[in-house]
Amino acid sequence: MGKLTAAITAVGGYVPKFVLTNKMLEGMVDTNDEWIVSRTGIKERRILKPEEGQGTSFLAIEAAKDLIRKKNIDPSGIDLVIIATATPDGLVASTAAFVASEIGATRAFAYDLLAACSSFLFGMSTAASYIESGRYKKILLIGADKMSSIIDYTDRTTCIIFGDGAGAVLFEPNKEGLGLQDEYLRADGNGRKYLGMDGGGSLMPATEESVKNRKHYIYQEGKTVFKFAVSNMADVAAKIMEQNNLSHNDVSWLVPHQANKRIIDATANRMGLDSSKVMMNIDRYGNTTSGTLPLLLADYEKQLKKGDNLVFAAFGGGFTWGSIYLKWSYN
Ligand code: UT7
Repeated sequence: MGKLTAAITAVGGYVPKFVLTNKMLEGMVDTNDEWIVSRTGIKERRILKPEEGQGTSFLAIEAAKDLIRKKNIDPSGIDLVIIATATPDGLVASTAAFVASEIGATRAFAYDLLAACSSFLFGMSTAASYIESGRYKKILLIGADKMSSIIDYTDRTTCIIFGDGAGAVLFEPNKEGLGLQDEYLRADGNGRKYLGMDGGGSLMPATEESVKNRKHYIYQEGKTVFKFAVSNMADVAAKIMEQNNLSHNDVSWLVPHQANKRIIDATANRMGLDSSKVMMNIDRYGNTTSGTLPLLLADYEKQLKKGDNLVFAAFGGGFTWGSIYLKWSYN
């Protein structure tokens, strides 16, 4: 019997209906459409409005339901549900456990995986390892974030960037050598002072003071993060190509984290890729953190062909970053 590989066999996606445009942001903070588009590539983002009373689980459930409907699978056959996220519904009870129950994955165990914007990328490695070991056969990996729940809409340096959304993929064993081929994953804890959220965790539990000082919102030293992101995302993408003897002609698609169009362009340039091979939806969704990579797959699914070589790359808080090389498994 040949070696088992872990292939993505289905995808689903969901974004909330409410569209927050650059024009609307102009009325909220001192910014303008021209600055946002030229500095980030973002035109609009989707927001799950607070009055809906829904958390990240809602986005994840909708993305999972989309996948289940399209692939026509019985959810009770799923072995494991992993939610990659930076914004779980709450800190203690597993969001993934709730999602699994809501979608009818009644036999599955479930847990959350937190690695900021690299959560989904690292989740791909985790899901694939379970499949390759032969221990489980159907793993639902969902990248979901309600970033609007931790955004300060009076801070123009962050509120223009992030949006809400979720995407889901199913990992299954493959005997044709398709699926995850190789990975190069990294972390550097020195990065946490440049991008994160101080309040709400064990280091700084919520107090009147922490709320007053706006410590429950994300902060980012944009310029510094940009420098690290540009060089590290390009480095790991180049490294994964080198490790696998891939030339730019061999790469069918770059699937890059959607943090900033300029970071994506720099990564594609370094790989020698034409823009027609670069998946992009940052203009419509902004940075949905754990949602970006699976939402790209959902948007581009119809254009993907069996055997296509996909290079994923991400960079995020922590810092965490990396690249994955995967062969697409279906038409
Ligand atoms: O997904 C996780 C990883 N995150 C990232 O990869 C994000 C990395 N960083 C970035 O994408 C960019 O740094 C930002 C988009 C956040 C900012 O773009 P930038 O080109 O680095 O701008 P900057 O912070 O250097 O600011 C340039 C100028 C400043 O004004 P002065 O000091 O030159 O007068 C800012 O005050 O732009 C000003 N500025 C704005 N102006 C209009 C900052 N934010 C805004 C804004 N609208 N929203």
